[in-house]
Amino acid sequence: MVTLRPSTAADLPFVTGLERRDDHVAAIGQWTDLEHLAAIQSPKREHWIIEFDGFPAGYLIAFDARAEGAGVYVKRLLVSEKDKGIGTLALARYLDHAFGDLGARFTWLTVREGNSRAQAVYRRLGFHRLDAAPELDRRLSTAAEAPAAGAFRMLLKASDWDLPGASLQP
Ligand SMILES: CC(C)(COP(=O)(O)OP(=O)(O)OC[C@H]1O[C@@H](n2cnc3c(N)ncnc32)[C@H](O)[C@@H]1OP(=O)(O)O)[C@@H](O)C(=O)NCCC(=O)NCCS
Repeated sequence: MVTLRPSTAADLPFVTGLERRDDHVAAIGQWTDLEHLAAIQSPKREHWIIEFDGFPAGYLIAFDARAEGAGVYVKRLLVSEKDKGIGTLALARYLDHAFGDLGARFTWLTVREGNSRAQAVYRRLGFHRLDAAPELDRRLSTAAEAPAAGAFRMLLKASDWDLPGASLQP
């Protein structure tokens, strides 16, 4: 069973240990301990531990940019063991929260062109590639960030999300 719980400072060794693993350094952005701690403590950020059967299995970071008209930005998603369905279920759980509890109108993220696995996960959950018009592009970039070189945005509207994502649970 995949669940989410808010991260605490006590989770930092797990989070940074996973993030800095040799096979993750090139695959995902790297934050200092202080940056993770700031996200854990900020009211505008969400930092979640993904648990599988009660044990830490990954983490997810999101930015609440609703006040800026920029929805909810899923900044980072990383799981320890790949291709076991954990990433899909964890993101589905998070989307239930973003669209249900937060009432976000849309969620979005950026993904590298070559990251086929992540793109498969996002597409399965209903995300589509977004090539934003200039005004929206500016708003999303200002509220969160612009896609890095070689990456693009994907977006999921609330109206395209069937609550609860729990229906994905095997
Ligand atoms: C991306 C990530 C979070 C996905 O989590 P996961 O638990 O591995 O993914 P799942 O097992 O839930 O689903 C993987 C899907 O990708 C598919 N897949 C696996 N490798 C693939 C590939 N090379 N090309 C296309 N699809 C692929 C699987 O078939 C599966 O799709 P399905 O459920 O429709 O069969 C995880 O792999 C990860 O942490 N990767 C490293 C960090 C990263 O890339 N994060 C995202 C940054 S945008």
